[in-house]
Amino acid sequence: MIAASDIKVTKTAKSRIKEIDFNNLPFGKYFTDHMLEVDYDNGEWGVVEIKPFQNLELSPALAAIHYGQAIFEGIKAYNDREGNPYIFRPIDNFKRFNVTAERMRMPVVPEEIFMEGMRRLIELDRNWIPMKDDYSLYIRPFMFATDEVIGVKPSDKYKFMILLSPTGPYYSAPMRIYVEEHYTRAAPGGIGFAKAAGNYGSSMLATAIAKDKGYDQVLWTDAFEHKYVQEIGTMNVFFIIGNKAVTPDLEAGTILAGVTRDSAIEVLKELGYEIEERPVAIDEIIDAYKSGELKEVFGTGTAATVSMIQELRYKDFVMKFDIHSWQAVPAVKKLLTDIREGRKADTRGWMFRI
Ligand code: COI
Repeated sequence: MIAASDIKVTKTAKSRIKEIDFNNLPFGKYFTDHMLEVDYDNGEWGVVEIKPFQNLELSPALAAIHYGQAIFEGIKAYNDREGNPYIFRPIDNFKRFNVTAERMRMPVVPEEIFMEGMRRLIELDRNWIPMKDDYSLYIRPFMFATDEVIGVKPSDKYKFMILLSPTGPYYSAPMRIYVEEHYTRAAPGGIGFAKAAGNYGSSMLATAIAKDKGYDQVLWTDAFEHKYVQEIGTMNVFFIIGNKAVTPDLEAGTILAGVTRDSAIEVLKELGYEIEERPVAIDEIIDAYKSGELKEVFGTGTAATVSMIQELRYKDFVMKFDIHSWQAVPAVKKLLTDIREGRKADTRGWMFRI
C-alpha cells in the first residue's frame, strides 16, 4: 500500500485558479494546478509524482503515437452540500481501466497508485471543484506506451497520468442523434468494451458526417447487419418503452460497460421501472415509436451524465419527442444528483470521500 507520504509532491509556485471563470467551463478546456505522473519500466512502477500541470517532452518515435497503445478513463468529483469533496464510483472506473489495459496488452495500474494518487491530487486541487449545478471536477486518468522504437510490439515502457478539469455539462441541450448504418464502431472480439483512445479516433468521421447533416452524434449499430443498436458516441443508450427501460446488453463485448449506465439501471429499478438488458433492434424502436409506446430516449456517460435525446433519425425516418412530458429522465437525474449531493442516502457505497 502506498502511503500519502510515498507520493512526491511538488506544489505550484502560483495557482492559476483566479484566471478561470467558474460560471463558464466548457468541457475539458481548463486544467487544475497539478497533475499526477508515474512511469512503468522494466516491469516496475516508479515514483508517483504530483507536480505542477506542465507540458511533456516526448520522442517523435513514441510507441503510443504510432500504434495506439493509449487508454483512459473519465470520473467525476463533486462537493456535497456541506462542501465535502467526493468522487463518484472511482473503484468501478479503476477496475474498467485495468480491463482495458489488459485488452491492449498494457500493464495494470496498482489500485494504490490509481486510487491514492487520485485522492491526493484532488485533495491538493480541491478548490477547483465547481459548485454550480451540473458542474463538476472531471478526472482523466490515462496511460500510454512510451517506448521509443517503431517496431510493432507491446511497449516495454508506459506513462500513467491523471489530469483534473473543472467542467460544465458535456452536452448542454437535448440531443439529435443519427443512427449509423455504414460505419462500424465495434465487432465481437474487438475493443468495443475497452476505453481505448482508438475507439474515439475511429468514430470521428461518422460523427462529422452526422454533424454535417445537423445531428450531434451517431448511434452505432452492429457490424454484421447494422440492425442492433450499440451505443452513442460518448454514451450508452436507453429507451423507455411502456414501463420498461430497455438498453443493449454487454454480452457481445461491443459496448462500454458504462458506470453511469449501471447507476441509471439501479436508479431506474428504484423508481419502479422494469429493466431489460438485451439486444435491441432498430426496427423494434421504430415500431414502438409508431405505436406510441416509445416514451423517452436518453444517453448516459460520465461526461454526458444523463442526456435527453429529442430526435432520432434512421435512414429517412425521423422520430421526434416532446421532452417536456418526460418523467423517467428527470427522475433519474434528480435521484442521481440527490445521492451525489448527499440529500439522499448513499446506500450503495457510490460516493468515495476524499
Ligand atoms: C466520459 O464520459 O468520461 C468519456 O470518456 C467520454 C468522452 C468525453 C470521451
